[in-house]
Amino acid sequence: MQNILSVQSLTKKFDDFTAVKDISFNVETGSIFAFLGPNGAGKSTTIKMLTTVLKPTSGEISINGFNVLKEQDRARASFGIVFQDHSLDDELTAYENVVYHAVIYKVPKKKGQKESGKLWRSSGFGIVGKIMLKSIQAA
Ligand SMILES: Nc1ncnc2c1ncn2[C@@H]1O[C@H](COP(=O)(O)OP(=O)(O)OP(=O)(O)O)[C@@H](O)[C@H]1O
Ligand SMILES: [Mg+2]
Repeated sequence: MQNILSVQSLTKKFDDFTAVKDISFNVETGSIFAFLGPNGAGKSTTIKMLTTVLKPTSGEISINGFNVLKEQDRARASFGIVFQDHSLDDELTAYENVVYHAVIYKVPKKKGQKESGKLWRSSGFGIVGKIMLKSIQAA
């Protein structure tokens, strides 16, 4: 089976400090893969390289068959990511956050508004979609 993710001899150095040292692994398409390690092991640094946020010092990464360095846009279009710290805007409502992210992902604004409205109507959260996130978190 084809690998959805392939990492070969990946290394990341911050000046003299080696945060990720020569790691290689493959993830088969359709499989579930967990990436575990102690604090400071280099997990976040690796994920940043896989998601094009950090440039490796050396090594190769292929996602969905696309070279992450040479075919960055196509590699980016091949994954989704849920961040450790959320990337929502507290000054927007839940509805507006969905529209905002839709636009970032090049969904036409009108379609984003329509889909976000549908999402909130069908979610059972109703009015929550119209309240600023910081008010929901404070409640
Ligand atoms: N931008 C940076 N500059 C210098 N050193 C860094 C940088 N980013 C990370 N490091 C160092 O690289 C090492 C690996 O860090 P990383 O954040 O990848 O670990 P982690 O496995 O995600 O840890 P945790 O479980 O605590 O989240 C750590 O020693 C960290 O201090
Ligand atoms: Mg981390």
